[in-house]
Amino acid sequence: MARILITGGAGFIGSHLCDYLINKGHDIICVDNLFSGSKNNIRHLLSHPYFEFIRHDIIHPLFIEVDQVYHLACPASPIHYQYNPIKTIKTNVIGTINMLGLAKRVKARILLASTSEIYGNPKVHPQPETYWGNVNPIGPRGVYDEAKRFAEAMTMAYHRYHGLDTRIVRIFNTFGPRMRENDGRAISNFIVQALKEKPLTVYGDGSQTRSFCYIDDMVSGIIKLLFKESDKTFEERTNKANFLYKNKEVRNTNFIHDPINLGNPHELSILDIAHMVLKLTGSQNRIEFRPLPADDPRVRRPDISKAKELLQWEPKVNIEEALKRTIQYFRKKFGIETSRS
Ligand SMILES: NC(=O)c1ccc[n+]([C@@H]2O[C@H](COP(=O)([O-])OP(=O)(O)OC[C@H]3O[C@@H](n4cnc5c(N)ncnc54)[C@H](O)[C@@H]3O)[C@@H](O)[C@H]2O)c1
Repeated sequence: MARILITGGAGFIGSHLCDYLINKGHDIICVDNLFSGSKNNIRHLLSHPYFEFIRHDIIHPLFIEVDQVYHLACPASPIHYQYNPIKTIKTNVIGTINMLGLAKRVKARILLASTSEIYGNPKVHPQPETYWGNVNPIGPRGVYDEAKRFAEAMTMAYHRYHGLDTRIVRIFNTFGPRMRENDGRAISNFIVQALKEKPLTVYGDGSQTRSFCYIDDMVSGIIKLLFKESDKTFEERTNKANFLYKNKEVRNTNFIHDPINLGNPHELSILDIAHMVLKLTGSQNRIEFRPLPADDPRVRRPDISKAKELLQWEPKVNIEEALKRTIQYFRKKFGIETSRS
């Protein structure tokens, strides 16, 4: 049994990680300021003897003893991360430094939840981990994209300089139950609009592509990455890291501490997704086109060769099945029990 800290544990992905890890018998400390998360996501865990919720903002230091840290705290949807752009940067910069400091102090393994947004509007397609990205640092999305790039840089610095046992996961679009109905993400938007008999809003002409991963697949990938042992002890890593740092050596890109893409490589246009949601909900609603927001990426598809090789991981749930499960979740939430499809 490990003592595990999950920052952002009351959010969409974090709460699913809490469920999975508590079911495996671990001791979970969930830290969240409930900005974009909700107690409803973890309500069923609150009375569990091995689950502890701490309402805390990670831009303030935290002193607890744990074996592993899953650092996910950060609003993920543009509506939330642009609501207070300075706070978004502080969460990723100060919050990440605080979590890395905590992990260093107690010698815990730490996983940073990074994002495919660090690739920006990519000029390489699909995106391998070795691609450095095409981000507009001063655009409206920069507060999230650049802050996550900083968080990656800081995590690698702690790994190289202090030998910290780090993991970085670059999460591509993920969806499923517990997404918020009003956070503006494409799939939840479409499902909520279809179920509420409203037109489905597509930004631009809908030809921009995304690759959507179901939450269960994402959780299994994140767990595999965190539990994958480093092939070195803490002292060996520190010596090796200091050596590499001093000699500015380029390392093997298949290193477990370098970033790893997790996502579903099945690429679809946003318009295709809208049509699938209409079909699966049985909705007769129309599609309404709106102007594309600034810096919206044209294409997005992960190259997951590294995850396949290092973690023997690839997504298993296909998009149709994943959409059905998510639609079912929203039907239940809105009290719409009968399926029309
Ligand atoms: N969902 C995706 O498709 C996706 C894609 C790429 C990356 N990610 C990353 O995964 C992580 C989780 O995303 P999610 O979709 O679950 O988002 P979410 O908004 O549902 O969860 C984030 C959680 O962090 C909490 N939080 C935010 N700022 C905090 C702070 N300063 N202190 C403490 N808690 C704070 C929120 O209240 C929320 O519960 C984020 O780091 C996000 O950047 C998600």
